[in-house]
Amino acid sequence: MKGLVLAGGKGTRLRPLTYTMPKQLVPVANKPILHFVISQVAEAGVREVGVIVSPETGDLVRASLGDGSRWGVRVSYIVQDRPAGLAHAVRTAAPFLGSDPFLMFLGDNLIEGGVSALVREFRDTTADAALLLKQVTDPRAFGVAVVDEGGRVVRLVEKPRDPPSELALVGVYVFSSLIHEAISRIGPSWRGELEITDAIQELINLGGKVRARQLEGWWLDTGKKDDLLEANRIVLDHYASRHIGGDVDGESQVVGRVEVGEGARIRRSVVRGPAVIGPEAELEDCFVGPFTAIGGRSKLRGVSIEHSVVLECCELRDVGPIEDSLIGRNARVVRADNRHPALRLFLGDEAQVAV
Ligand code: TTP
Repeated sequence: MKGLVLAGGKGTRLRPLTYTMPKQLVPVANKPILHFVISQVAEAGVREVGVIVSPETGDLVRASLGDGSRWGVRVSYIVQDRPAGLAHAVRTAAPFLGSDPFLMFLGDNLIEGGVSALVREFRDTTADAALLLKQVTDPRAFGVAVVDEGGRVVRLVEKPRDPPSELALVGVYVFSSLIHEAISRIGPSWRGELEITDAIQELINLGGKVRARQLEGWWLDTGKKDDLLEANRIVLDHYASRHIGGDVDGESQVVGRVEVGEGARIRRSVVRGPAVIGPEAELEDCFVGPFTAIGGRSKLRGVSIEHSVVLECCELRDVGPIEDSLIGRNARVVRADNRHPALRLFLGDEAQVAV
């Protein structure tokens, strides 16, 4: 079985971060989301992985994953010339996939417990597709599946106004090569994309056997700011451990599950876990609260911050309390001269500030 990881797309909902980096490389708990995805693909026993990239951000993805040997997989890169939909990505990857079955994983999704059980379901039931479903309270924003008592998918609807079930399609699928024929029979949707939901419905129309497995654990789609912060919270909550790699002075308290990277310096500060402080970061007179990730080489002085993600090489000085915030690389947030209180902003396109 091969793997197909989708790391193309537009990422419009995570602008301005995605002007300079693909959203799949935005970190949660200081690790790019895509790295979690590749390790879950590897854990499922897949060794040959095709990664879909866009022409604009392909080089950054390549630089981050390399040849995949770090995870024991062999990565090939496949450029999708435009973000024309998930089924279009599969069509683009057809020469790489050949007639092999494949595990397809959206590069900005995280699944509790990995995907090995889904791959087993596919193999054991000799299906043409195995889908992962999650019960959600409002299915109207998702692809929704109708499943019979035997676990067979009978119908799929994309973003239904009147949902026929509460089971949303999670961004992980296993397909036999019959999906290529199904894709060749569909046309673009109203939004101009070749939809994977339409392709799977076509697979059912062709008489293909589509199985579903319900995910009991969490499913995180990190495509928007608040979802990304939620992913950071859950990943830190589940995986953060205590490791003090840097230098913490006697006037500081590092409480609970906190990972302090090598070469980091903490002075007169309190850090309450779960949290991660990246390598060579510097904290001075700070309070860093739970569910916070501070990127490597960022410098914080006189800052109170929690439930936030700060990327690398930022400078934050005498500001706060900061909460629920996502701050991109090299950003600078400092207190201005107080004699004339005013906001002095120099923000990238589509930046958002709430004061
Ligand atoms: P989406 O989040 O649905 O699409 P997007 O990346 O264009 O985001 P936005 O709506 O914010 O503009 O895509 C899901 C995943 O699939 C994501 O990791 C990007 C990837 N993808 C591709 O690789 N190729 C594509 O053509 C599309 C649409 C998405």
